[in-house]
Amino acid sequence: MMETIIGKIQKDQEKENRLIYEKAGQILRSGGLVAFPTETVYGLGGDALDEKASAKIYAAKGRPSDNPLIVHIADQKDLYELSCDVNEKALKLAEKFWPGPLTMILKKKDIVPNSITGGLGTVAIRMPSHPVAAELIRTSGVYIAAPSANTSGKPSPTKAEHVINDLSGKIDMIIEDDTVDIGVESTIVDLSEEIPTILRPGYITQEMLCEVLGEVRIDPAIEGSLKPGVVPKAPGMKYKHYAPNADLAIVEGQMEHVISYINDAAAKKEAQGFSVGIMATDETKNLYHTGEIRSVGSRNSEASVAHNLYALLREFDQMGVQYIYSESFSTNNVGQAVMNRLIKAAGHTIIEV
Ligand code: TXA
Ligand code: MG
Repeated sequence: MMETIIGKIQKDQEKENRLIYEKAGQILRSGGLVAFPTETVYGLGGDALDEKASAKIYAAKGRPSDNPLIVHIADQKDLYELSCDVNEKALKLAEKFWPGPLTMILKKKDIVPNSITGGLGTVAIRMPSHPVAAELIRTSGVYIAAPSANTSGKPSPTKAEHVINDLSGKIDMIIEDDTVDIGVESTIVDLSEEIPTILRPGYITQEMLCEVLGEVRIDPAIEGSLKPGVVPKAPGMKYKHYAPNADLAIVEGQMEHVISYINDAAAKKEAQGFSVGIMATDETKNLYHTGEIRSVGSRNSEASVAHNLYALLREFDQMGVQYIYSESFSTNNVGQAVMNRLIKAAGHTIIEV
């Protein structure tokens, strides 16, 4: 176990904040690991060009080494340092969506170590908009490789306490600033082949990308259910992911049927001595009668559900519930990313009523 420094960024504390960035920069330059907030989820950062640092990232998370990392940059020009094929499409997307929650897959240059790309000839690059992330990249002077700062397989962290629970004692520093806004990971778009392809849905939707690029496909393997034999192109999308300890089921159908199914199922489980969590919404939470009932957001706002999803899954873990029943959500806007993560978290258990 090592001692993990926790630095909290505070409003109007310029001097203290500066010391935090300096310390974190020093750690990154000397090959250490720093977790930091981004606009999507917390990242676990290390120097992207230092193979020893990336080995530490994989070890701290318990992550399979064939699952590549996203490189975070603070300046659009850095694209040219990392990719040998900064094409027209990449430039258009960078203009429109950077800094922001979009990751682009491009052919890599040799300076990008194979150990962070899982041996692929491409590299994932993102320029985050969160001011703390941007300042950390600038102060450190390195490109920061950063997966989500959770133990591999667990829901991604959207609050510093989630990172502390998963990684305290395993990494050098955590920068705390609870203004993580979106709550689900960046959209990943592959620009290394003819037709741009979404490998992971996020806040930036297919529609938004199409407006800029014309044609954009979605990797067939991520559309709702993973079909046997179809291997997702983003290596990370094939692993069990985002999963709470409890057995999670999504209940889909007409709202009143969903509610009555969940009420019955929860009562039965409780009668058998199990504890049950219910993932409800602002509109429905008063219609449930038993179990730990929590609202994940409003049915009118996919963004509110995205924002709270991972934190609620973790809250259920902390309460120690053994079964979770979740309503199903709209796939409009960021809703597609929400359902993509929820279905994976449920291990594809969907009950149609
Ligand atoms: O919002 C985010 O993207 C967050 C924050 C911290 O920036 N990061 C994040 O990283 O979600 P991670 O490691 O949890 O997810 C990275 C995903 C994985 O599914 C990985 O397989 C995919 O990106 N990926 C990385 N490099 C790739 C490549 N060259 N080709 C295809 N997929 C790649
Ligand atoms: Mg992750």
